[in-house]
Amino acid sequence: MASDRESTEYMNGIRPGPLTREIPECMRDKYTIIQTILDVLAFLMLAIGHVIQAIYRSIRGHPKKDLKGCIALVTGGGGGLGSLVALRLARLGCVVVLWDINRQGLEDTVKLVKGIGGKCFGYVVDLASRDDIYNTAKQVEKEVGKVSLLINNAGVVSGQYLLDTPDYLIQRTFDVNILAHFWTVKAFLPAMIEDNDGHIVTIASMAGQVGVAKLVDYCASKSAACGFDEALRLELEVKGAKGVNTSLICPYFIRATGMFEEVNSRFVPTLSPNEVADRVVLAIRTNEPVAVIPSYFRLLLPFKWIVPWACISELIRGLVPDAVPAPMPLPDTLQKPVLATPSKADSRPMTLTPPSRHDRQV
Ligand SMILES: NC(=O)c1ccc[n+]([C@@H]2O[C@H](COP(=O)([O-])OP(=O)(O)OC[C@H]3O[C@@H](n4cnc5c(N)ncnc54)[C@H](O)[C@@H]3O)[C@@H](O)[C@H]2O)c1
Repeated sequence: MASDRESTEYMNGIRPGPLTREIPECMRDKYTIIQTILDVLAFLMLAIGHVIQAIYRSIRGHPKKDLKGCIALVTGGGGGLGSLVALRLARLGCVVVLWDINRQGLEDTVKLVKGIGGKCFGYVVDLASRDDIYNTAKQVEKEVGKVSLLINNAGVVSGQYLLDTPDYLIQRTFDVNILAHFWTVKAFLPAMIEDNDGHIVTIASMAGQVGVAKLVDYCASKSAACGFDEALRLELEVKGAKGVNTSLICPYFIRATGMFEEVNSRFVPTLSPNEVADRVVLAIRTNEPVAVIPSYFRLLLPFKWIVPWACISELIRGLVPDAVPAPMPLPDTLQKPVLATPSKADSRPMTLTPPSRHDRQV
């Protein structure tokens, strides 16, 4: 039993705590004041250098990299934003590989890309399945080649109050919106590091930066996607993989894709999908680490940490009174619901059984 004196010493941090591994202040290695001042000055000089370089580049324009011949994989490329990005990449000379659970959407996009003279391969993949991702990644490497541009774009939304959201929809949101990023990156990053050439793009959302009612699982998964990108970027820098870049894309609500049927957005107009697709491609070509769309949101975001929560709450509720997810039409070839009696909110791609493995490429 610890004496009173020992307990007081634990509490005052003079003695290592019995239940924690905290090292007492007096036993820690200390930097001298001079060392600390020098480190801070060095950091400030570097920071000023980077800021000047960033200002210069934003005035002069960033150099754009040539994507001709690179193999680009777009998840969720069978519709919405993914298909628009795929078309742009094909126009820039990329070989485009599309992954989607929606066979019809894939076939349509492959046709569109080939129609503009692009090279395109579509694979039916269920991004909620890790095995499916790993197996199809091997198939792509064998049939198409090494992927050097990976765009993790596929996403799903449940769009109900948390307590009304069935567990399997929450699970699905995390499987598709973030866990799939881990599996695709683990599948394709080793070759990128080996060649010291690659780019990983995370399509997150403004909903990863601020919370919205009825989007609790969606916001949490997108926030995880933001953290995923930042930590991965730092990890690549620590490892010295200078040729492998990452870009995080955080768009506000986009109109006319398959995700939200109706977003009642006041003050800020919803974005055109073509405008967002252009911005994604620009971020890739200029190795931009973070693209917030529209860009002026970048100036507003820091206020979140400064002003009282009541202001933020008023602002978000005023800005987005409601965001209703679009019901997904059932593609013909995937008419086999997993659930016995799917409700309107259930009738989205992830409730469908993916087709059997043999005819996956479209
Ligand atoms: N629409 C918006 O308002 C908005 C705003 C910000 C960010 N985003 C993000 O942009 C990305 C693209 O969204 P969108 O608006 O084009 O949506 P969308 O619904 O039109 O497209 C998503 C695509 O992902 C596919 N997909 C869904 N589940 C899948 C699974 N399990 N396996 C394989 N593919 C699957 C769908 O079939 C679809 O083709 C998403 O990550 C979304 O979260 C969208």
